[in-house]
Amino acid sequence: MLTVEGLSVRYGAVQALDRVSLEVPDQSVVAVLGSNGAGKSTLLRAISGTHRLHKGRIEQGSISYEGQPVHKMNPATTVALGVVQIPEGRRIFGRLTVDENLRTGAMGAKRSAGRGSARDRVFELFPRLLERRTQRAALLSGGEQQMLAIGRALMAHPNLLLMDEPSLGLAPQVVEQIGEIILEINRQGTSVLLVEQNASMALRVADLAYVLDVGTVSLHGSAEELAATDEVQKLYLGHGAGQQSGAPRAPRRSLTQLSRWSG
Ligand SMILES: Nc1ncnc2c1ncn2[C@@H]1O[C@H](COP(=O)(O)OP(=O)(O)OP(=O)(O)O)[C@@H](O)[C@H]1O
Ligand SMILES: [Mg+2]
Repeated sequence: MLTVEGLSVRYGAVQALDRVSLEVPDQSVVAVLGSNGAGKSTLLRAISGTHRLHKGRIEQGSISYEGQPVHKMNPATTVALGVVQIPEGRRIFGRLTVDENLRTGAMGAKRSAGRGSARDRVFELFPRLLERRTQRAALLSGGEQQMLAIGRALMAHPNLLLMDEPSLGLAPQVVEQIGEIILEINRQGTSVLLVEQNASMALRVADLAYVLDVGTVSLHGSAEELAATDEVQKLYLGHGAGQQSGAPRAPRRSLTQLSRWSG
């Protein structure tokens, strides 16, 4: 469905991605893991065409979606094709109500028909949003705001959903719910490219996974294979030799979340 080949992206003097290749098969969930600054958001921006808004430039490589080259398209065109990004930091409109936020998500969608059914789908996935539909988004909890950000993206009828760290800053139970929601969205026929630092959640829901290390792909394979590698165990799942010997763990978000998760 999506093929990224030899993609290099630069912001002025900063090389953010260096010849990255990646595939998202039809109907799949693909996770991209990597620590701060690895280039995860840059990868999603390049796919959605929003890198230019951040002064990023594709130096080489290509991105094709269902056989069409998309790396020269503008963001509106990619949305119309069904590639929809949920940016980092759950951008929602705080002063608008839940309903109004959802309506903004439908703008630029590939079909304006079916807006009502998209809204029904969102409220089915997130009954909390239905209860709060007339409330201003700024008053929602962090988890509800993330649900609204996902809901807005679903209003555009995505075939491929690009999610940038949906678990960021959320309590473990809410992260678990977000994982379930991703699986349900996928079961309903939408492919998902999921960027995460929370490796335990991402590898649980993903079919395939990639590890980005300072702009290059250092590992890739099935989520199961990757979860079993030493690198992922040590760096992302906190099951390294150091931990077994009682050494202090590095202060990573994913580790603290895993300690309550690893049942
Ligand atoms: N607009 C920008 N201008 C200049 N450099 C940037 C810009 N955006 C990102 N970078 C740099 O590009 C590299 C990759 O950044 P990116 O935001 O893609 O990483 P990330 O993996 O998403 O990190 P995080 O987990 O912190 O969100 C970093 O070195 C970052 O400092
Ligand atoms: Mg990022």
